[in-house]
Amino acid sequence: MQSPTDPTQKKNGLHNMKGVILAGGRATRLHPLTLVTNKHLLPIYDKPIIYYAIEKLVSAGIERIMIVTSPYHVDDFVNLLGSGQNFISKKSGKQIQIVYGIQNAPVGLANGLCIAKDYVGPDNCTLCLGDNVFEDDVSTHIKNFSGGNTIFLTQVPDPERFGVATLNASGGFVRVDEKPKKPKSNWAVTGLYIFDNTVFDKMIGQPLSARGEQEITYLINKYGEEKAVQPVFLKKKWFDVGTFDSLISAGEYMRKKAHKK
Ligand code: DAU
Repeated sequence: MQSPTDPTQKKNGLHNMKGVILAGGRATRLHPLTLVTNKHLLPIYDKPIIYYAIEKLVSAGIERIMIVTSPYHVDDFVNLLGSGQNFISKKSGKQIQIVYGIQNAPVGLANGLCIAKDYVGPDNCTLCLGDNVFEDDVSTHIKNFSGGNTIFLTQVPDPERFGVATLNASGGFVRVDEKPKKPKSNWAVTGLYIFDNTVFDKMIGQPLSARGEQEITYLINKYGEEKAVQPVFLKKKWFDVGTFDSLISAGEYMRKKAHKK
């Protein structure tokens, strides 16, 4: 692996970028499938769900990733992924590094990201929810990241199930609301976020939401107050595999894609 201080890496935004994948949570909507197994280990067609997030980050040039999960399942992830030996960086031709963080209780995405604070250190980070699958190539956004917060939006028919962005007339970010009863748009904030290092300061004193979680949308709105949120509009398919139907749809989609090749 290249050292983080390797001068050849300083040519782009990757030299100080770490990846964080959240793979905890309760996944109650998938019971009984997830009574003893972590959701992110279930299959989408021919590989475990977690592979899609890892491959997305690795294809964008990220070589150092922390997977945050629950104490009950961390050993399963270690057995499956080890130190990252099955994921090869195109840049170095060597394996990436995977390390693990433990979130004692699933009390929100911001709380999960906070577990990675020391691993991220002084760097920036790309956070990916382990149950999200992206078809778009997001690598230029990660490579060219120069600060603030980049979010990835897609239009959905059921925005009340997601974080929903309010945009101004020119498509600029105004604010995001978590699962609003009356959504102001149909632009869902998907589970991929690029944050500069100030994200950890923004967590200081973060309150719990009405549903008892430290929400990622709170942090995005903090960047919004600084006019530092850059929305990117996805063009291709996106899945959030939290239900039986979405798990099947994602599997069928990937099967069709594989057969077309
Ligand atoms: O999928 C996009 C949506 O993801 C966003 O639009 C929402 O703003 C965001 O809050 C999130 O909503 P979900 O209801 O889908 O979040 P969920 O509880 O399903 O958790 C998402 C992933 O994060 C899942 O892979 C489990 C993991 N997780 C979740 C929690 C609450 C953790 O690792 N730790 C946690 O504490």
